[in-house]
Amino acid sequence: MFRVVVGIAAAVLLFFHLFLFRRHKKRWGDRSWFALFRIFYWSLAIPAIAYLLLALFMGRSLFTIPAEGVWGAFYHLQAAMNYPHIFFFPFYFMLLLIIHLFLIWPSRIKSKIKTQSKTALSRRDFLAKSTSAMLTTLDTFPLGVSLFSLGGMFLGSRDILVEKIQIRIANLPSNFEGLRLVQISDIHIGNLIHENYLKAAAQIIKGVKGDLLLVTGDIIDNNNYFLPVAARFFASLKEAFPMGMYGVLGNHDFIMDGEEVATQLTGAGLRMLRNETLWLGRGRQTINLMGLDFPPVPRASHHRRIKYMQKFFAQAKKSVKEGYPTILLNHHPSDFEVLKNEDVDLVLSGHTHGGQFMFSQNRESPLALASNWYRYYIGHYEENGRQLYVNRGLGHWFPLRINCPTEITVIELTS
Ligand SMILES: [Fe+2]
Repeated sequence: MFRVVVGIAAAVLLFFHLFLFRRHKKRWGDRSWFALFRIFYWSLAIPAIAYLLLALFMGRSLFTIPAEGVWGAFYHLQAAMNYPHIFFFPFYFMLLLIIHLFLIWPSRIKSKIKTQSKTALSRRDFLAKSTSAMLTTLDTFPLGVSLFSLGGMFLGSRDILVEKIQIRIANLPSNFEGLRLVQISDIHIGNLIHENYLKAAAQIIKGVKGDLLLVTGDIIDNNNYFLPVAARFFASLKEAFPMGMYGVLGNHDFIMDGEEVATQLTGAGLRMLRNETLWLGRGRQTINLMGLDFPPVPRASHHRRIKYMQKFFAQAKKSVKEGYPTILLNHHPSDFEVLKNEDVDLVLSGHTHGGQFMFSQNRESPLALASNWYRYYIGHYEENGRQLYVNRGLGHWFPLRINCPTEITVIELTS
């Protein structure tokens, strides 16, 4: 099945590029800049196609190959080429617009004016010239705005916002009154989230003075090569959390080897909860802290995935201390549809990144893009007396965000 999907994707991509390039060649093949354009075009298109063909040949994604030695060099090369390919088309269409603005349309207008000038009045000549200038200015404006907003979206992906909320838990033991939970999620440490960004984030996380750190999955983006970076990040936070650091694995953490991620991060001080419940004590009182895995499910459908979650939940429930509240770390917020009927007081999730694009701040609006796919995807929800908080993520897998900055959540518990 993998080979069929990859084979079709490679064929479609190849034909698409051949078709598009032929069209351009027909149109501009005789221009002086076309040789340069040819190099630019194929240097982006060929690696993307080659990546798919190699995956087809090997029967698996190259993302699952350890990034060391020759493979490491190849991995970084294909990753470096793959991202530009994803963003290739917006830039490509901008380039087309620039070519039209400065080369094609002016020359067309010029030739029109020339043919007209023999017979036309000077007044018409003047009008044509000013219309051309006006059109060029008008066309440059949206282009400028696009470039500006793309820059803004990129910068938006670097902003970190600390969200502070109070969550009321009815049966909260008195010793836990005012407990400060710090939640982070979806860091996606990898090619786009590197050590400098993490150092800046760590400073903010330490500064919020929490009692315990809770991490709700997708810590690694797709390659365990970056695990030492993640381990250093969590080791640097250890001192700041007197009651410890706890986490769960998200789908991205499983891409290469989830077991290795869990072992190494636990070694660095982030205790990974694998379908189990721990008792957190303060004095003689306790709260249950539960965590579930979120492995990618083969042939996943919502129904099939929920079945996995229920199996994991049943396992973790065995060690719950009765009579005390339960906080559950669970990567995917959609599971709340089921969990709201279980004996869980607060579920903490991530996964959605808040959709990254919010053209409306009303989370029910179709302009808040994720609302079209998810029922629960950002912020606090309460249904059936159960609560859910969905964190927008500290990282991303593409560096653009609108009205949806990265987030560190500080949750203060109250009774
Ligand atoms: Fe995820």
